Amino acid sequence: MKEEKRSPDLKSGKGEKDYSKYFDFSDAKVLAEEDGKTTYRIKGRTVQINSRPDFKEGKRRGKESIEVHYDFQVPKDMQTIGEGKLYHLTTYGCQMNEHDSETMRGLLEEMGYTATEDRREADIILLNTCAIRENAEDKVFGELGHLKHLKLEKPSLILGVCGCMSQEEAVVGRIMKKHPFVDLIFGTHNLHRLPDLLREAMFSKEMVIEVWSKEGDIVENLPKKREGIKAWVNIMYGCDKFCTYCIVPFTRGKERSRRPEDILAEVRDLARQGFKEIMLLGQNVNAYGKDFEDLEYRFGDLMDDIRKIDIPRVRFTTSHPRDFDDHLIEVLAKKGNLMEHIHLPVQSGSSEILKKMSRKYNREQYLELVRKIRIAIPDAILTTDIIVGFPGETEEQFDETLSLVREVGFDSAYTFIYSPREGTPAAGMADDITEETKKKRLAQLNETLNEFSRHSNDILKDQVVEVLVEGESKMNPEILSARTRTNKLVHFAGPKGLIGQLVQVKITEPQTWLLRAELVEEPALRRA
Ligand code: SAH
Ligand code: SF4
Ligand code: F3S
Repeated sequence: MKEEKRSPDLKSGKGEKDYSKYFDFSDAKVLAEEDGKTTYRIKGRTVQINSRPDFKEGKRRGKESIEVHYDFQVPKDMQTIGEGKLYHLTTYGCQMNEHDSETMRGLLEEMGYTATEDRREADIILLNTCAIRENAEDKVFGELGHLKHLKLEKPSLILGVCGCMSQEEAVVGRIMKKHPFVDLIFGTHNLHRLPDLLREAMFSKEMVIEVWSKEGDIVENLPKKREGIKAWVNIMYGCDKFCTYCIVPFTRGKERSRRPEDILAEVRDLARQGFKEIMLLGQNVNAYGKDFEDLEYRFGDLMDDIRKIDIPRVRFTTSHPRDFDDHLIEVLAKKGNLMEHIHLPVQSGSSEILKKMSRKYNREQYLELVRKIRIAIPDAILTTDIIVGFPGETEEQFDETLSLVREVGFDSAYTFIYSPREGTPAAGMADDITEETKKKRLAQLNETLNEFSRHSNDILKDQVVEVLVEGESKMNPEILSARTRTNKLVHFAGPKGLIGQLVQVKITEPQTWLLRAELVEEPALRRA
């Protein structure tokens, strides 16, 4: 299975793409070619390819300026197409994908569709996929296996695959070959094409593939279906960092920042609608604004402007240590609605490994940044991402990661075993570490991290902290679930009317992953 997904040509980035490895086009008969779209007859199925992924193209970083569009509309003939019909959308991967799903829900509902939890009754099923590690992809292929039966039972069902996996050449080839019952494949750059693509898939009964390898423009006014009290806000798209292990620059295209006035207007609008917390999203938010040619306006400036908007809590993810500048630290130190939690992925504590990862900072520079943050914001909580078992990582280099974890004292971390991604430079690096060693390192790392999580929670015992009440606890509806400013999960007993409010609680029982607390003061409940 693993072998099938690799192509030596792609790994080295040299030579022609070898689709035949995944899909034999010699079996395919060209039925028609029109407007750049080619229709093939392949093993009894008609496949219309508008465009398909191309890693070489995806890697290019052109100078073309990005246009911003404000005039999106669902085409007239698609505005009522979904009336009386149901959709089911499954999201894998990061918050960026979750937020894209909100856009797709918005689009589907503008077409008249209603959401359903039950896949068996759905007329459209979409899988919004993630390509970050192999196990993320395996889940999706497993799911496609299950969905085949639904499609057989209900041929009118439209089954679509979108998100980061669709941007991969090998994945699209594998779906064409092994899962030909899929009706629609589209990528991360053409979400706004969903109504048109659905039309093509529905009325032609063909498999329709449209994946743009080059990022498109920014479409500002796409509908979004948001729920609850927290909202995600994209501040930029794409990533230009090309860390050697990472697929994201290929699946998400080049860095494009949204215009500040558009972001600020969206945040003001969310505040007016009563959202209590916003999470600003970007693969590397600290690169915000670097692509503006007409404007000196960076992430620190944006945060300083958002700080003045009346929304209780503002968070952001993810911060690349390389672009974290002093102005941003200065602005974050003003606090207010800017939370004292910084997610600062380090990936490794070894300068040699960081170099091989092309992270563009070394251990000392990372520690220096942490020191600066701690001086400016003494109560800041730091969390991180760490990869173990990067190709060639020695025991000593892994020990450097452990020692960095101890030195910084992260509150928590997402930890991963390195997973080779086709087309990335690291996938071609010699890797002689056994699976067993990688697992052992991961366990050892997690153990060390857990000690720190526990410790940082223990010192909160008997302290009174402000929390935002987010809802009922999943385990016990009598208990409310809330978060501290530093994003720690708190459970306490209290009336449901507190949901959406900021309250003071006293921490009574800290645990590793959870703080149990009691309500100190109940604010006057607002009238509806
Ligand atoms: N843009 C963010 C990270 C996005 S991906 C940043 O740079 O911080 C989230 C995390 O997945 C990364 O921080 C990294 O730790 C992990 N990751 C990415 N590619 C991976 C791979 N090939 N194998 C294992 N983990 C990976
Ligand atoms: Fe991937 Fe690096 Fe970009 Fe993060 S900064 S998305 S790890 S390439
Ligand atoms: Fe996955 Fe794409 Fe996010 S690869 S982590 S869904 S940007």
